[in-house]
Amino acid sequence: MNKLVPSLVFLVVLCMCPVSHGAVPVVNRGNGPQFDRSRLPPSLRKDFDAFEIKCSRCHSLERVANSFLTGMAPISGRPLDLDTIKSTLLDMMRKSAKHKAKGQEISKEEIKPILALMKYFLDESVK
Ligand code: HEC
Repeated sequence: MNKLVPSLVFLVVLCMCPVSHGAVPVVNRGNGPQFDRSRLPPSLRKDFDAFEIKCSRCHSLERVANSFLTGMAPISGRPLDLDTIKSTLLDMMRKSAKHKAKGQEISKEEIKPILALMKYFLDESVK
């Protein structure tokens, strides 16, 4: 019986492991990958709303969802890590500055919660 204990412990631990595929909250209802707000922790939903408004003005969020599904920035092909995310966000801020007159510039303050959200997606994508 005592010999069985390690294997039982192993089995229990194995069952507690998260599923091995990514857990990025993305769905595909036949119109390309879209973020699924309902699968986000409630504490991130407000930040998600800001992200949705700010980041979908020039392109769809499918581009962003895809990066977390493939582990690659879809246009530049850079591997998706925290550095790539930070420099992409800086790029997007610069691009948005051209739309300042329309009040569509993304400020430093506004980018912080978006970066936190991206970190969350990144963590979920590498599980
Ligand atoms: C002012 C317009 C504009 C806004 C606002 C904008 N983007 Fe972009 N985005 C672009 C353009 C244009 C590209 C195409 C690539 C390039 O020109 O660098 C792009 C490309 C991307 C890429 C692919 C980058 C790569 O290296 O493959 C990602 C990811 C992305 N945007 C995410 C975001 C996020 C997240 C936000 C919100 C913070 C955002 N975008 C807001 C214009 C915008």
